[in-house]
Amino acid sequence: MSTEPAPTKDAPSTPFPTDDPVLSMIGDTPMIEYPGAEAGRLRCKMESENPTRSMKDRVAMGILTKELERGQYDTVVEASSGNTAGAVALVANRLGLTCKLTCPETTSPAKIGYMKAFNAEVHPCPDVDSDHPDHYRAAARRLADEEGAFLVNQYHNQGNPTVHYRWTGREIWSQAGSTVTHLVSAMGTGGLLSGSARRVKEEAEAAGRDVTVVGVDASKSNISTAFYGEEPVPYDTTVEGLGKGGELPTMWFDYIDEMRSVPDERAYRQAREAARQHGLLIGPSAGAALAVALDIHNSQPDAHVVTIVCDGGEQYFDTLFGE
Ligand SMILES: Cc1ncc(COP(=O)(O)O)c(C=O)c1O
Repeated sequence: MSTEPAPTKDAPSTPFPTDDPVLSMIGDTPMIEYPGAEAGRLRCKMESENPTRSMKDRVAMGILTKELERGQYDTVVEASSGNTAGAVALVANRLGLTCKLTCPETTSPAKIGYMKAFNAEVHPCPDVDSDHPDHYRAAARRLADEEGAFLVNQYHNQGNPTVHYRWTGREIWSQAGSTVTHLVSAMGTGGLLSGSARRVKEEAEAAGRDVTVVGVDASKSNISTAFYGEEPVPYDTTVEGLGKGGELPTMWFDYIDEMRSVPDERAYRQAREAARQHGLLIGPSAGAALAVALDIHNSQPDAHVVTIVCDGGEQYFDTLFGE
């Protein structure tokens, strides 16, 4: 059981307090009722309200603040084709660190836009197999070595799930702890859901309750297969952020009860429906999680579900609404 107190109006709502006006916008995100569900039974934790529109701002903030306290780095490096890159670029900018990012050359212009906007140096790498020396993760390791820089390393750094344990999960419990029965989210590195889940489960146990945690991936991604000990399927999803499986030390499976896989088309359809019918602009991975959250809501009348909106839909206008 964590000894960290739940946030109250007398205590700071973040375990990573800052005087910086931009960084102070990270976290403390709203939780809203999903307009397409029965009142009070399905709520969305709006991580899209962070400054770069995703929950990775928390990871960058937590990890870089901790490393900066040690004070031995002035350059930070990360390999990312996704939201982590923009988040690291923003936080490094505010902390006065030089930021160098490697990514596959196929990375979307929207994601590159965040990196460049915050003055990061961007190193596009060829789209080769992950064991190739030119792969963007290998390139990041080399760059960090050459520069004596700090490598964030979100796929291995225990700071990733720990930040969500200390911060996101704590907020979820303080916003929904009195009612929540199910916590549902997409999984990539696993940091967001498994870290948050650990906190929520510990708090629930202390309150004499139980919360079921359901992870979501795509039919052609490999978190479900890893969870159930099955043969991996050929990775073939266009839903960004959903994991490839393999050895994932940031995936705290002990706190996940169940995995469900969603076909890509259902993830996109659900994200489109959230925007068109309910005015809620969410990304496709959040669409996948919302689809599963609605299945639970529709099949279990006593369920009170919280689903996490990992990121907003702004970066996916073309794929979501471009037809
Ligand atoms: C859009 C999106 N959804 C879901 C995830 C999965 O989050 P995590 O890596 O914490 O499991 C990510 C991670 O990069 C993401 O960018």
